[in-house]
Formats: sequence, structure tokens, C-alpha cells
Amino acid sequence: ASIVEHSLHVQNLTVWRLCRPQVITAVNGSLPGPTIKAREGDTLVIHVFNRSPYNLTIHWHGIFQRLTSWADGPNYITQCPILPGSMYTYRFTITGQEGTFWWHAHVSWLRATVYGALIIRPSRGHTYPFPKPYKEVPLLLGEWWNANVVDVEDVSQLLGINPNNSDAYTINGKPGVLYPCSRKRQTYKLKVVPGKTYLLRIINAALNNQLFFKIAGHALKVVAVDATYTNPYVTDIIVLAPGQTADVLLTADQSTGAYYMAGHPYFNAENASPFANTTTTGILIYEGASSANPKMPLLPAFNDTPTAHKFSSSLTSLVGAPHWVPVPSKVDERMFITIGLGLSPCGGNATCLGPNGLRFSASMNNVSFQWATSMSLLEAFYYNIKGIYTADFPDVPPLVFDYTNRGLSQSPLGFALKGTRVKKLKYNATVEIVLQNTAFVGVENHPMHLHGFNFHVLAQGFGNFDPINDPKKFNLVNPVFRNTIGVPVGGWAVLRFQADNPGVWLFHCHLDVHLPWGLATVFVVENGPTLSSILPPPPADLPKC
Ligand code: C2O
Repeated sequence: ASIVEHSLHVQNLTVWRLCRPQVITAVNGSLPGPTIKAREGDTLVIHVFNRSPYNLTIHWHGIFQRLTSWADGPNYITQCPILPGSMYTYRFTITGQEGTFWWHAHVSWLRATVYGALIIRPSRGHTYPFPKPYKEVPLLLGEWWNANVVDVEDVSQLLGINPNNSDAYTINGKPGVLYPCSRKRQTYKLKVVPGKTYLLRIINAALNNQLFFKIAGHALKVVAVDATYTNPYVTDIIVLAPGQTADVLLTADQSTGAYYMAGHPYFNAENASPFANTTTTGILIYEGASSANPKMPLLPAFNDTPTAHKFSSSLTSLVGAPHWVPVPSKVDERMFITIGLGLSPCGGNATCLGPNGLRFSASMNNVSFQWATSMSLLEAFYYNIKGIYTADFPDVPPLVFDYTNRGLSQSPLGFALKGTRVKKLKYNATVEIVLQNTAFVGVENHPMHLHGFNFHVLAQGFGNFDPINDPKKFNLVNPVFRNTIGVPVGGWAVLRFQADNPGVWLFHCHLDVHLPWGLATVFVVENGPTLSSILPPPPADLPKC
């Protein structure tokens, strides 16, 4: 194993997109930022220099951070922000994980432009559980605003309303030719050699939309999601929620020509904000062929839930693959957690423009998560400091939602109160969680992401979770094992994981609209009894609040 050292210089810069200049916060002068590559077992040492005008933290999405919770990154959860003009070095070892990860800012909306791929290859002498691809290509799907994203978020927070929609989706930072005024050189191009097989490492780094992705004329063979190997699944359409990744093998089995790769939103939410129903494109070009007149794939309709559900429910884990983990059979802690939108009092002297002069909020078990600001929750946990959080995340008994006759009045989870109420988990406990979408403001789907762990997705479905019959459908043999689950629109999902990683772990909706509204909670996993399960003290340069 080696030490892999990188420096990320974060600073503002002007880039041109959609025919206009825009100041963005970027890393090492590029959008997306640099791809970081390492092998399983390596130790990453990443110096982050904050030369931007904003508070900053970086999260290593999907990395367990075993006994290095201090390097996880979410703002005020595991660290105070890196202030403008200062730096912090993230140090962590990759143990028992390989595949496609990514890194992104975990404060305000900065991750719109502060993100990049994090690729972990097998340790030396180890191979993929599929034939070695000719080349590996990261494809980062993103979202672009003709505006300062931090301001976009601030305005929506102040007014309690939905933020403005983005102006384009992107592939590797480029919108593609279907947007007005997007030039050819703002289109991502991938040259391929006929007959060769490519490993596409696809990452949904968009802020607020799940995305369909397709390449004209080519089948995609999914071999991993969220950096865990899956049984090969051949499809022509990929659906990824923000935070999710998929590794797909693409064989250049056409002899020549040019083909669009295209992504557009999967969005099925009633009464929700309008969204940008536009399409980003890149071009796959065979060596020697002209890039003129690429073939366009036919994408599903934006609200094609059956197609989205088919993709995510067809994935299974590859039993016996490297780092495969069997489902723990004995459950120690069961939780039922509602996830959804609601309305909250405006607060302060602000004017809220949400329904009835209220503000949109979001909650888990009716708690709208309140970020601490005087110190991180991890410091409070480690030093046993009282008054920063309370360990009383409420239990809510299974509730029944009416998904056909919705109204603001039909749910008991209307008005969420703010709180920093966390859930304590015993070290090594096996936890099973039913995530249940609510139907208060509207029916939505939420991509829920857990820091510090992967979870087995035992089942998912629509409507209300049925505690008698749905457990009969649990896949306890080879369920997909991942870090982000798109809980079906107006439906539920059941997760199981082992709390074998002491520390403080954020569990949240990966839509950046909902995160600041409070669709988050925190699991505090107790220190274990042995030296190998006890969290070491913070690094000396951990930023102070
Ligand atoms: Cu990719 Cu908490 O985030």
C-alpha cells in the first residue's frame, strides 16, 4: 500500500458556459475538479487550501472512514469549516473498499462546482471480477447555474421557497449541444476504438435531480453501483440519484460513427417545484469517424417511474466478489423513519413566501435537522460535551399515508420542529430501517445517503410499508449494498447495516434543496470496547469554530 498525496486548491474563477461568463468556485482551476486515484489499502493525504471566499469542507462520498470520522467532512457534523484563507489535511486509509467514489464540498451549495471523481482500484495483484477493460473513463453528471449557487441557496432559505432551477445539466462539466448557445467545445467527447470495452464510471453529482442516462446504439452492462460489485445487468438505460455511482461496461461494437450519450432528469413529484426538463449530451466517436450527425438515444419521459424502478430494483450484489458482505441475520435495532417535506414557522423577522406565509421545510420523523455551529457534533461526542445535541431522535410508529387523496391536512407530520436530535447506536449493533416517504406537501422520492457505511437494500416498494407482508419479500441473499438509495416516489425502502464504525455519521437526502431544509439526521455510534474500535483523537490541524 502507498501514500497518495494531493493538493486541492479551491478558488474562484471565471468560466464560460452557455455563452456567458460566470464566476464559480472551482478546484485546481477546472470543472469538475481533479480525479483522485488510489488503490485499496492506500492512505490518502489530501491538503485542501481554501482560497475561496466561502467556508469549505470536503466529503469523500462513500468512503467508510473507519476510525477516521474526523476526515469525513460534513460541515459542523465532523468538523468546523475550513475558513477562507486556511487549510486542512484530510488523512484516511481505504480499507475493504474499491470502485467509483467521488469527493465534493459538504457546505452550502458549493458542491455544484466543487466536486470530482475518486477512483479506488483493487490492491496490487488483485483484479476486477470481470475482464480487464481497455480503458476507464469517469463520467460525472452535474448541474449548472447561470448564477452564483451560494446566492441561489441563500435567497431560497431567506424566503422559505424553492430555489431557482439550474440552467443546464452537464457531462464532465459540459452542457452539450442541445442547449441554446452551447458550443461544440462545450460538449464532452469520448473517442473509442472499435471492438474495445470501456469501463464507464458514472457519477451523479447533480444537486437536485435524479437522472436517466443512455448512449445511442450501445448496451450498458452494470457491474457495480456505489462501489460494490453487482451481478452483471445489461440495460440500455441507467438511472442515478444524486450521490449514486454506477460502473458500466460499454463495448464499442458498432464499427464506426458518432453516438450521443444523453442525460435528463427523472422527476416524479406532485405539487413540487418546476424543474429544468432539458437534456445534456456528450458524443461517443469511433476512431477515424466524423463527429457530424451523431445518433440520438430516445430517453424515457421525465416521469417514467416504472423504468426508474425497474433499474434500481433489478440490481443484486455479486456474492463472493471482493469486499462482498453477507446480510447480518439478527437485527438489534429497528427503526421506522418518515422522510418528507413539510412547512415550518418562518422564524425571526424574515418574510416567508411559502404557502400561508410559512416556509418549506423537510424532516425525518418530524424533526427538521438543525445544524450546530459552535462545534462539530463529532467533537461534542468525542469530548462528551453536553448541550450541542440531544440523543432523543423520536420513534414514530408506522404511519399510513394516503397517496391517492393527498392534502395538507391528512398527515400528522405537517409542522416539523427544528432540533439537533440524534440517534445513538450501540457499537456493532445491526440496524434495520424502514424509510417511508410521506405525503404531506406532495409525493416525492428522496435519495437518502448514509455516511460511514454501506447498507443492504432488502426491499423497496410503493405506497405504505406493510409490516406483515413486505418483510416476506426481503432479499437476504444478494441485495444490493450501497450508500445512497432513491426511496421510490410515494413509497418505502428497507435498509440493514452493521454499526461497526464508531463516530458521528450524517444520514440525509442528497438533494441539495432538501438538505438545508432539514432532511437529515445523525447516527452517533458508540466507541467500541477494544483498541481497534476506538476512535483516535482529532488531528492537530482540525479547524476550530
Ligand atoms: Cu455525497 Cu453527505 O454526501
